[in-house]
Amino acid sequence: MTITVITSSPHKNGSSNLLASSFIRGAEEKGHTVTVFDAGHSMLHPCIGCGRCGMNGNCIQKDDGNRLRELALSSDMMVLVTPLYYYGFSAQMKAVIDRWYSYTTRLSSKHMKTALIVAAWDSNDWTMKDIREHYLTLCRYMNFENAGMILGIGCGSPEMTRGTEFPEKAYRLGKSL
Ligand SMILES: Cc1cc2nc3c(=O)[nH]c(=O)nc-3n(C[C@H](O)[C@H](O)[C@H](O)COP(=O)(O)O)c2cc1C
Repeated sequence: MTITVITSSPHKNGSSNLLASSFIRGAEEKGHTVTVFDAGHSMLHPCIGCGRCGMNGNCIQKDDGNRLRELALSSDMMVLVTPLYYYGFSAQMKAVIDRWYSYTTRLSSKHMKTALIVAAWDSNDWTMKDIREHYLTLCRYMNFENAGMILGIGCGSPEMTRGTEFPEKAYRLGKSL
């Protein structure tokens, strides 16, 4: 499979990227081809809702969104990797999602596999409730086939994350594909 892993943290060596690395190691060991799109360090403007794309055309933004679109549309699987920000996606990841608008029809007709990887500081039983629901609703609307979720609670820093079971879980998800 061709897999695009979309990271979205400002921390290059942070917790969510650590979990993404474990996933990638597993997926590559299994023989999959992985490309990373680092939305945390790309130029990706938010959708401005101008409607010029008609939900199926060119976006007026001139930035890294074109590369992201090519990657997404040529992949079999997309992995959304985000730190938990106020119980949702980072703004960088939300920009990725909103920019699907110009190719929603093409993306949703692919029935592609997706996975979600999140790192959060808290470890309450409700910490991941809303991002989980948001992701599953996106899967429903976009016809994505959810291949798994790594909801890393208690992953507030790389040190904390290394002490949890989530890096191993992310590795095993990659390896299971
Ligand atoms: C703006 C901001 C909002 C955050 N909101 C939450 C939150 O709602 N719940 C939580 O558990 N952690 C929250 N955190 C903590 C991060 O999710 C956590 O430190 C995570 O490990 C960061 O991942 P990263 O190193 O990949 O950026 C927040 C951090 C920032 C900077």
